[in-house]
Amino acid sequence: MHILHVVGARPNFMKAAPVLRALNTWPAAKQTLVHTGQHYDFNMSDVFFSQLDMPAPDVNLGVGSGSHAKQTAEIMSRFEPVVLEHRPDVVVVYGDVNSTVAAALVCAKLGVQVAHVEAGLRSFDRTMPEEINREVTDRLANLLFTPSEDGDINLRNEGVPAERIFRVGNVMIDSLVRLLPVAERLPRNGFPERYALVTLHRPANVDDSEVLRKILESLVAISQRMDVIFPVHPRTRQRISGFGLDTGKLRLLDPLPYIEFLAMQRRAAVVVTDSGGIQEETTYLNVPCLTLRNNTERPITVTMGTNLVIGQDGDTLLAELSNIIAGKSKKGSVPPLWDGHAGERIAEILQRL
Ligand code: UD1
Repeated sequence: MHILHVVGARPNFMKAAPVLRALNTWPAAKQTLVHTGQHYDFNMSDVFFSQLDMPAPDVNLGVGSGSHAKQTAEIMSRFEPVVLEHRPDVVVVYGDVNSTVAAALVCAKLGVQVAHVEAGLRSFDRTMPEEINREVTDRLANLLFTPSEDGDINLRNEGVPAERIFRVGNVMIDSLVRLLPVAERLPRNGFPERYALVTLHRPANVDDSEVLRKILESLVAISQRMDVIFPVHPRTRQRISGFGLDTGKLRLLDPLPYIEFLAMQRRAAVVVTDSGGIQEETTYLNVPCLTLRNNTERPITVTMGTNLVIGQDGDTLLAELSNIIAGKSKKGSVPPLWDGHAGERIAEILQRL
């Protein structure tokens, strides 16, 4: 059986690595890895391949950045000939980035089976480009691998037949479980005992100068009481300098490699983020997480985990951070099937096909 995997952006890599690894133990599986090139900087892409022990991509489409339409269209037109040449039996797509939906659309039109890893998540907010990517990908997918029960419920409500839905658990947590011991052995490298860790990259938070200014003001205010470490996504760095915003004593870093960032999360007193995956990783690590969004497609991190979705307002952020500094933080537990074996469950299902 020929399985072709498509990855493109940073959050795809830690999801694909465990599936590739699990399928490697199956001699009848021929695997091809395609990188769309949506993310291309060394520290947004290459370093993840080496740390996650992934094979080099067989094909890199080299699409780079662009508007949503341009990037999606570019991936589609460059990916179609690859599918025609390789003729895979199934194409596995991951998460909710533009590469995910573009690849799914190409395969659906060519009559090639699509498997979606991390299916069924919904924020019910179409102002998020990822929500559109999730809805369309799930509509087109033949096999839908969900991380949690809410995913199954959303898919059933949208009319997806039960026999196509497989609750396999959280594949991204597989990478975390495997590499946490390595992360825990990293030296602190001069980072303080107690700090807040921040990541921000969503257009809703960083493309509006007023929203971003208020968030940064609150973080700067908190940095008087606790160190604030902020690895900055390239988009956010461009906005901070473009808007001429003050970052005071915040410790701005370049985006971190996977293992270094995992160590940072593990040791943080609190994580402030607008990422999807980090809401899940902090839940697994039992580290309080404040999510700067109005909703989440990962509600289990709130109902079971350590996540609080607090909206985009800087004043609320300041109040919630003060609560955590005062020792009032949300406790949580690890959701079912977030156990480090989701990739193996996916491989087993693909073998049964
Ligand atoms: C993408 C995903 C988002 C995911 C995020 C993780 C979509 C719609 N969005 O958002 O779901 O959470 O990745 O990072 O697919 N850039 C670089 N170097 C790179 C990559 C990007 O400088 O290697 C800069 C470019 O200016 C680019 C901008 O970042 O225009 C945004 O990149 P893009 O891939 O369009 O979206 P992300 O914001 O990274």
